[in-house]
Amino acid sequence: MELKTLLLDMTGGIATITLNRPQALNAMSLEMQGELEAVLDRVEREDAVRVVILTGAGEKAFMAGADIGDFRGMTGPQAVRYSQRIQGLVTRLERLGRPVIAAVNGFALGGGCELAMACDIIYAAETARFGQPEINLGIIPGAGGTQRLPRLIGKQRAKELIFTGDLIDAREAYRLGLVGRVVPLADLQGEVRALAEKLATKAPVALRLAKEAVEEGSRAGLESGLALEAKAWGVCFSTADKEEGVAAFLEKRPPAFKGC
Ligand code: COA
Repeated sequence: MELKTLLLDMTGGIATITLNRPQALNAMSLEMQGELEAVLDRVEREDAVRVVILTGAGEKAFMAGADIGDFRGMTGPQAVRYSQRIQGLVTRLERLGRPVIAAVNGFALGGGCELAMACDIIYAAETARFGQPEINLGIIPGAGGTQRLPRLIGKQRAKELIFTGDLIDAREAYRLGLVGRVVPLADLQGEVRALAEKLATKAPVALRLAKEAVEEGSRAGLESGLALEAKAWGVCFSTADKEEGVAAFLEKRPPAFKGC
């Protein structure tokens, strides 16, 4: 499939998806939504992919939100379907059975912030800026922002950001717990690649189950989360990688995990 709005690189067990409409600050067009769905299908099919990186082309933006041009003339019922589709896409990323790292290289606004929040780990350039500025268009976040932002940074600060539409810089995003690490722009891709390479050496089934336990557990109560963790822990013990991990420790050598 020829991609017009994304770049996809799959090397060394790492799939890097680059949002690639820099002339429009990588705004999410309908075409980009379709391509991202197709790319996620492909990534899910490839067992060799152990980690996914999501980033933006250019130095200015990760993604400056949905393509506002698509909103002109959109009716209420069409907007509901639009929101459900983009929510589905974001949730798919959140539930992808591999770690997903966002390398936020600039503006992450509206859908860009919502997409980043669905990633497992966010590293941001010092120059990155985050926000949910939809209020300035007379609308509200529609790709999960009203739900994920308060869960990540608390209701008070989330409401302030959503009600004002104000942008925050990467340091403030770090202080609020929205971002895992802030690095100089020149170091961002290297730091993210190093993290991805480290994760690619870990046992894939254990990574998948750890992600599932945290994600599903955070939607459930503590009791259900603990029950889920115990079952997932048990599944790890049915893998060859658990035998390898334990043997490697006892034999004082690095483990070589195979993903089964
Ligand atoms: N949708 C469509 N086009 C967008 C866009 C979006 N979300 N964000 C930026 N662009 C386009 C601009 O229209 C401009 O196109 P042009 O060169 O053809 O005029 C180009 O990207 C560059 O953006 P520009 O506004 O000139 O850059 P800036 O540095 O002055 O401002 C922003 C950067 C991010 C502050 C500003 O572009 C902005 O506010 N974007 C919209 C953010 C938003 O509301 N997102 C939520 C959407 S639901």
